[in-house]
Amino acid sequence: MLSVSETNPFQAGAYMATFHRSRQKRGLWSSRLGFIMASAGSAVGLGNIWKFPYVTGMNGGGAFVLFYILCIFMVGIPLMLGEMVIGRHTHKNPVGAFRSLKGGAWTTVGWLGVTAGFVILSYYCVVAGWAVDYLWLALKGTFSSHHATEVPGLFVDLLESDLAQIFWQALFMGAVIGIVLGGVSNGLERANKVMMPILFLILLFMAVYGIFSPGGPTALRFLFSPEWSKLTPQSMLEALGQALFSLSLGMGAMLTYGSYSDEKTNLPYAAFSVSVMDSCVALLAGIAIFPIVFTYGMQPAGGPGLVFKTLPIIFSRMPAGSLFAVFFFLLLVFAALTSGISLLEVVVAYYCDEKKWSRRKATLLIGFLIFLLGVPSALSNSLLKDFHIIGDRNFLDSIDFLASNILLPLGGLLIAVFTGWVLTTRLAKSEIEKGAVRFHCYSVWHFLIKYITPILVALVFLHTIGLF
Ligand code: PHE
Repeated sequence: MLSVSETNPFQAGAYMATFHRSRQKRGLWSSRLGFIMASAGSAVGLGNIWKFPYVTGMNGGGAFVLFYILCIFMVGIPLMLGEMVIGRHTHKNPVGAFRSLKGGAWTTVGWLGVTAGFVILSYYCVVAGWAVDYLWLALKGTFSSHHATEVPGLFVDLLESDLAQIFWQALFMGAVIGIVLGGVSNGLERANKVMMPILFLILLFMAVYGIFSPGGPTALRFLFSPEWSKLTPQSMLEALGQALFSLSLGMGAMLTYGSYSDEKTNLPYAAFSVSVMDSCVALLAGIAIFPIVFTYGMQPAGGPGLVFKTLPIIFSRMPAGSLFAVFFFLLLVFAALTSGISLLEVVVAYYCDEKKWSRRKATLLIGFLIFLLGVPSALSNSLLKDFHIIGDRNFLDSIDFLASNILLPLGGLLIAVFTGWVLTTRLAKSEIEKGAVRFHCYSVWHFLIKYITPILVALVFLHTIGLF
């Protein structure tokens, strides 16, 4: 690319203008807050509200939660900053970014990300579809017309209905496609700015309600007092995978969002605040859900249906429960939408940048293919219920396992190694400090991303796949 300093001042001005125009054409967030809100929107999703509570329940609580928080600080925050630095420096999709920075085998890391985006969104839409179905049930007042003991059965009914699941999955995918068609600052940003704050407030309310319910104290003990004997290598991998999934890391989503941010954005501040927000939402979701589990003598290790089987019980009993149910499931659908759009955006950005497809063509075509790949996930509890791929996991749980516990840790490991060892210190530091940003913790970050993040990910990862 032409360097500005090689031209005379007049040409430099013209060059900058053209350069800026091409950036604008690709898309930029309209404000710095817009970037932070969009990234938080990507991070906060089903991972926090559906997945965090149930994997915590299945992995014994306290010790898992503490190891999860360790992963956020040692792996998540450093990696998020790394992805944002790569994205903003190149202003490209993951494949284009790695190709332009180093090329060769490193381009595969970008490919891994695009593939993960494709795979994750396919089943993400199915789970989001369950949330849309529950929103519909809430609107009809179904929870208040059922006795608490009958409520968990509603989820079983949904899982057995193929058509209903495919219908809601299609509806959700349609909404994701619609927003991504709108482009960066029109579609993505506007949607996020409205949805995120509402989501946070409602969840806060539900968590306070949980703490003061009879199961509150047991739930807090379950979540925060560690029993270290329950922390197996397998659950460490799940905590790591969950941290990456929840922060949208290891596949280039934050890289892609970073690529739409401008030179003045304070990336360390963005990475830190997004990670902290995301972790707060996950913990709030746990604090809202586990009191119900303990109050009603349910199983903490109840599996992927946990949030759908527990919270509606409360809605069926509390005053104005139907109204709260509508708000809550609306929130869950919003959260899923803002994450779903970031997953699709990674794949669409690749086809727009590299293959020069129009945004319209890329979004519609890829969106449809992802929907098709999601159909077996939608059928995994009914027609395909005897079809197990990994252990005794059904199709949906297997590809979730594959994506969260293999693709994302592998992607995370490679991105950390790339940021710490391949990017020069000069490049990384000058990218972070653009726009007069002062980053006092640069050496701490660089040490973490160079040594601690890759070693931690590699140890946990290799141990679980049996190589170490
Ligand atoms: N972070 C999202 C969630 O918690 C899921 C996601 C994963 C989004 C990876 C983008 C990339 O639901």
